[in-house]
Amino acid sequence: MTEYISSSLIVEFLPEKYKNLPVTVFKSVDSTNRAAKDMAASGHNLPLLVVADSQTAGRGRLGRSFYSPAATGIYMSITIGGFKAPQNAVFITSAAAVAVTDAIIALTGKSPGIKWVNDIYLDNKKICGILAESQTREDGIAVTVGIGINVTTSDFPPEISDIAGTLGADVPRERLIAEITKNLLDMCKTPEDTTFIEKYKKRSILLGKEINYCFNGKGKSAMATDIDRNGGLVVKNEDGSYTTLSSGEVTVRLK
Ligand code: BTN
Repeated sequence: MTEYISSSLIVEFLPEKYKNLPVTVFKSVDSTNRAAKDMAASGHNLPLLVVADSQTAGRGRLGRSFYSPAATGIYMSITIGGFKAPQNAVFITSAAAVAVTDAIIALTGKSPGIKWVNDIYLDNKKICGILAESQTREDGIAVTVGIGINVTTSDFPPEISDIAGTLGADVPRERLIAEITKNLLDMCKTPEDTTFIEKYKKRSILLGKEINYCFNGKGKSAMATDIDRNGGLVVKNEDGSYTTLSSGEVTVRLK
């Protein structure tokens, strides 16, 4: 079968310690997150990596879809096992944002920003989204981190053409996929090491900015002031009180 993304090239770019990582590449699949979770549910050894050249039902956060045309993007899911509690798994989304931005900086020299909690921006446009999904296995909690990057995509549908952007880098997708995978697996080996939060903060495009957020159905205005050790966004409300927002509960908009 012709692979439109080469699994052997991904493995070639991985460091020696990760050369045994199982890598599955699809020409087209509904969702790499769905495929990776199914493999994990059927008892597959973890970690594992699933990649597709295109997705027919790419999933985004909050029930949205993720535009996933062929040949121009990266659609990858890494499933990591052995987490003891859901809270231990929460850091993965922020760790993935750092893993992706580290890879982009190292391989393209560009300077992407992170919009809490899981979007990567370049030149004020979203170029990457991250969706983490958990499941319980006999050996603990497994987390599937799905990463979608518009590498050279430019023909966005009208409903996202205002916000979606493209990395626009001339780097093999396999190289980026391997670098992101290495970065994330390295971080997961030492979950107690939260130094990546410092990188996350430096790259945050929200900190110090006025934002609107929606909490329990109510719209509020606040100033984004910090990212806490668990990846929560600390905001100062108009009445001077502080609220820590955790992912899943809120949508945030720059004012
Ligand atoms: C978001 O922007 O809300 C998150 C988008 C996550 C998209 C990636 S693409 C690879 C993986 N498979 C999916 O179905 N979704 C994630």
